[in-house]
Parts: sequence; structure tokens; C-alpha cells
Amino acid sequence: MSFFESVEGAPDDPILSLGVKCAQDEREQKVNLGVGAYKTAEGVPLVLSSVRRAECRILEQKLNKEYLQIDGLQEYIQAMLKLLYGKHCSALAERRICGVQSVGGSGALRVAGEFLRSFVTDRIYLSSPTWANHPACFAAAGLKVGAYGYYNEETKSFDFAAMMQSLKEIPERSAVLLQACCHNPTGCDPTFEQWKEISSLMKERHLFPLFDSAYQGFGEGLKQDAAIIRHFVEQGHLLISCSSCSKNFGLYGERTGLLSAVCKNKEEAQRVLSQFKKIVRANYSNPPVNGARIVAKILTSTDLRSEWIEELGNMRMRIQEMRKALVSELQALGGDFDFSFMHRQQGMFSYSGLSAKQVEQLQEEFAIYMPKNGRINIAGLSNQNISYVAKAVVEVARAHETDPV
Ligand code: LMR
Repeated sequence: MSFFESVEGAPDDPILSLGVKCAQDEREQKVNLGVGAYKTAEGVPLVLSSVRRAECRILEQKLNKEYLQIDGLQEYIQAMLKLLYGKHCSALAERRICGVQSVGGSGALRVAGEFLRSFVTDRIYLSSPTWANHPACFAAAGLKVGAYGYYNEETKSFDFAAMMQSLKEIPERSAVLLQACCHNPTGCDPTFEQWKEISSLMKERHLFPLFDSAYQGFGEGLKQDAAIIRHFVEQGHLLISCSSCSKNFGLYGERTGLLSAVCKNKEEAQRVLSQFKKIVRANYSNPPVNGARIVAKILTSTDLRSEWIEELGNMRMRIQEMRKALVSELQALGGDFDFSFMHRQQGMFSYSGLSAKQVEQLQEEFAIYMPKNGRINIAGLSNQNISYVAKAVVEVARAHETDPV
């Protein structure tokens, strides 16, 4: 008899498994538009020059490999807090924001989930749709997971009325996960004016804001993409943010993120920090050092910081250009189909409206990989593959005319 007899196989991860399948695909024209990772115009992964230069400087310092503190590298934490909340943030000056370095953005979400479950609420509401890993992450932290209205499939845009209606109905003191910019998977964000109304309503209804900031700098710019979090802080919300350096620093595999909380006062921030540390210690003891050193070096060196901001701008621009190019190719080939809704989306993703059947056909017949929900990683498009992808998308759209696109 095996101890593992009752273990059932878990399903593959809907996003990360695509990379494995695509790598095994022997067809030459294959395209991976699955995982949200940036690729260059030549279709290869990019290590930023600012990152390479920071690594050289760190190497020269011959630093040791001792454990970090449970909360992580202080220089990194302080620089990241300023990047997210703004260097003139009064809550930062009042020392009522605390932060711990996290294992990527996902690690921050999981620690946040456990903290919320222990001290704030037993339920969290996520946008419908949301990133495939959000529900699993919060359920694993012991929270009950609900959904709020966000996206209108018919108009293919953000549904402000539906979100406001949900926020009116959600039980008071629930947590609400808000994506700060470049919504994953839809690419549709509320306008700043809409965010203001969301903020007021959440305050009125005592709903707790949990921000997921995975794409700061990929939407409109570093400041603009953090504007909504800063607005919530100015409006007096107490909140938690989970930020990630995976996309904007291209440090995917370094697992570098930040969990932070805006508290009522300095003393409260110290208590919250102590509980974050307790959760971290019980989970993975303390965070990895390398990514945090790189980010700290970039953010605190004038030359590296300006180079990074320029490189981030270039990534943002390439994504915007690819989105435009994809829409015009699709419009030209599709004729009867209207793909103009893709112009309204921003950030790394386009929610194409392709059905699961169409996605399957793209994979089987064209070796084009994307998650079943039809989310396209725009950053995976290049001049070499864009026409091929557009033709294939139009072909599967024609093959299943009754499906959503
Ligand atoms: C994505 O949504 O593709 C990324 O956030 C990567 C991941 O872990 O799913």
C-alpha cells in the first residue's frame, strides 16, 4: 500500500504549462503568446542593460551570501516603497507604511491573503474575470473567494456600472482585490474618474482595498500607473499592496516583489510588519537576495535609474506598437470582424474574445499558444510572427463564426 494512493493528479497550470507544451512543439512557426513575459522585437527574452550593469557592480562588491532579514533587504524595501507610493507620500514620511520583500508578486499576494484571513476578513472579492492564479492563491490562504462584475463581454470593455453594483452588494469589511493598472487578463482599466468613485464607495461601505500592482510602468508610465494607489492613500484608505519587479525590471525568475501596508499610524505599522514577518518565517523563512540587490542598485544609482526608466519606456512603446499592428492586420484580413476594441486595452495583454474552441484550434493547427480564455500576450508578438498570428486568428474566427469574436 502506498501512502500516496489517494493522491489525485492536479490539473496543469493554465498559464505556465503552455511554455512547456510550446517548448515540446516541433513545428517551426510556433508562437508562445501564453505567459506574460516580455520578448524583444526578435522574439527573444530581454535582460535589461540596466540590470546587467547593476549585476556587474554587485559582482565587483564581492558581497556575501548570508541570509537576509525576514523582511528582506532594507535598501530595496525603502526604494520600492517610494516607487509605489511616491517619494513625497505623507504616509511614508509619517512611517505608517510598512513593507516586506516578497517572493515575486505572487508571494506578496499569498502572504497578504494569510494576513487578511488572520486579522481583517474571511472573504475576498476578485474581478470577473481575473488572473487565473488569484482564486487559487487566496483560497489556499483560507479566504472565501467571491467575484465582482468587471467586464462586459458584449461591448468588450470595462463595465463600470457592474463593478459599482457589485461593490454595493458585497458584505461590509470584505477585501476587494484591485488591479492597479493593465488589468490581467482583459487589458481594460477604469478611468481615473471612475477609480475616484470606486474609492469613495469602498470607503463608505468599509471594503478593504488589496492592490495588485504587477505592471507599474507598462501602462502609461511609472507615476501614472501608481496614481490610483496614491489616490486611495490620499483619501485615507488603509490598504495593502502587492507589487512585482517581474515585468518592469524583467526579473521574472529572480522572484522579486514587495508586500506593503498603509496603516493608521507608525505604531500600528510596526505591529502589522511583525505579523507579516511571522507569516514569512513560517512559509519560506526569508526572501532571496539577488533580485532585491539588483533593483536596489538600479533605483539608488542615478545613471542606472535613468537607463532603466528609458528601457521601461521602450518596452511599453514596443507593446503599444505591436497592439496597433495586430489590430490593423486583423482589420485588414478580417473584413467583417471588428477588432477595434483591442485599441481600448492597455498593458501586456489583449483579451481577444476568442473562445476555448478557437484557442484549441490555434494551438492544434497553427502552433499558436495562449490560455483558454483567449488572452494574448502582446509582448510575445514580433514583426516576424505578427502576420502569421493575425491570419490564423481570422481563420479560426471564420471557422467558428458563432463564437464570441
Ligand atoms: C501571467 O499572467 O502570465 C503572469 O503573471 C505569469 C504567471 O505567473 O501567470
